[in-house]
Amino acid sequence: MKLLVTGGAGFIGSAVVRLAIARGYEVVNLDALTYAACLDNVASVADSPNYAFVQADICDRAALDAVFVQHQPDAVMHLAAESHVDRSIDGPGTFIETNVLGTFHLLEAARAYWVGRDRPKDFRFHHISTDEVFGSLGPTGQFSETTPYDPRSPYSASKASSDHLVRAWGETYGLPVVLTNCSNNYGPYHFPEKLVPVVILNALAGKDIPIYGAGLNVRDWLYVEDHADALLLVLEKGILGESYNIGGENERSNLDLVRTICTLLDAKRPRDRGPYSDLITFVADRPGHDARYAIDPSRIRNELGWQPSVTVEEGLEKTVQWYLENELWWRALQDRAGVGQRLGTA
Ligand SMILES: NC(=O)c1ccc[n+]([C@@H]2O[C@H](COP(=O)([O-])OP(=O)(O)OC[C@H]3O[C@@H](n4cnc5c(N)ncnc54)[C@H](O)[C@@H]3O)[C@@H](O)[C@H]2O)c1
Repeated sequence: MKLLVTGGAGFIGSAVVRLAIARGYEVVNLDALTYAACLDNVASVADSPNYAFVQADICDRAALDAVFVQHQPDAVMHLAAESHVDRSIDGPGTFIETNVLGTFHLLEAARAYWVGRDRPKDFRFHHISTDEVFGSLGPTGQFSETTPYDPRSPYSASKASSDHLVRAWGETYGLPVVLTNCSNNYGPYHFPEKLVPVVILNALAGKDIPIYGAGLNVRDWLYVEDHADALLLVLEKGILGESYNIGGENERSNLDLVRTICTLLDAKRPRDRGPYSDLITFVADRPGHDARYAIDPSRIRNELGWQPSVTVEEGLEKTVQWYLENELWWRALQDRAGVGQRLGTA
């Protein structure tokens, strides 16, 4: 089976590419190589005869058509997106262009290709989205696949729009679509502007570890390789037109998560001047910061038999170890525009 993976040089896309190659799929990785991309993320598979890379923008319809004609994929896994909430507050335009218009162009290119091949029933357009489309929860409750959409940030609104487009292309044109909405990911190759790497890298540098507000915002954390595994399962076994929520059942407040990382670092690379948690600093909250996300993963668990392989403590241990062993990777990304700065204060 040949997969066209968009955004395969990013954090989650590269985990999908690496796992798919390991499982014997052919993969065409289409990525515009924005500030968030890093081809080192897929260096381990770059020499595989089953791997090809195309630098292209999903807003460039002619380039998309050429990729479909040349590579003839059996399925699309669409991960390319602008993904950082703070950047969406400072500059929402790129989020609308890539996440909404880009998804539209990709859907149209996929539809033209699918119609041109006489509408094969086993073709799949798998759209990868986020739990943030469902809005913010109070202290109880979980997001299910039928929770009404209620996005609050430019990022989540743009992802919600793209979800609606994908469903519409399934209903109206019969394009064989499937969707997934996942909780917060963490793990190896996470770009150094996101919370988990910021904590690890600031701690190692002896800098303040910034926590938004009081650190009480709760997220459901999922190890990125478990997400990639779930995505390939949904691609193969998911029911057409359905969506699947993917979560780790690992709810933690940001403060608890940061303290866990500090404790892991205390054990692995002890600091002379007291525990790493001494570096925790509370900073002004993100505007419109959603209080809590929690995923009810019963559909994917009961219907497809998926469950995460690690708890958040086990996944964080692997992640911290990976950052300690891969300094060359993250150092090269720290010079990119905006990394290390406070963004999204509106
Ligand atoms: N990170 C999370 O916790 C999380 C959780 C749930 C869902 N998601 C979704 O998963 C997907 C991947 O997220 P990520 O964290 O890996 O993002 P990322 O920012 O690490 O990677 C995005 C990739 O998309 C590419 N890209 C951006 N604009 C493009 C364009 N116009 N054309 C082609 N390529 C383009 C970038 O170059 C980059 O390689 C996104 O759709 C995101 O909404 C992320």
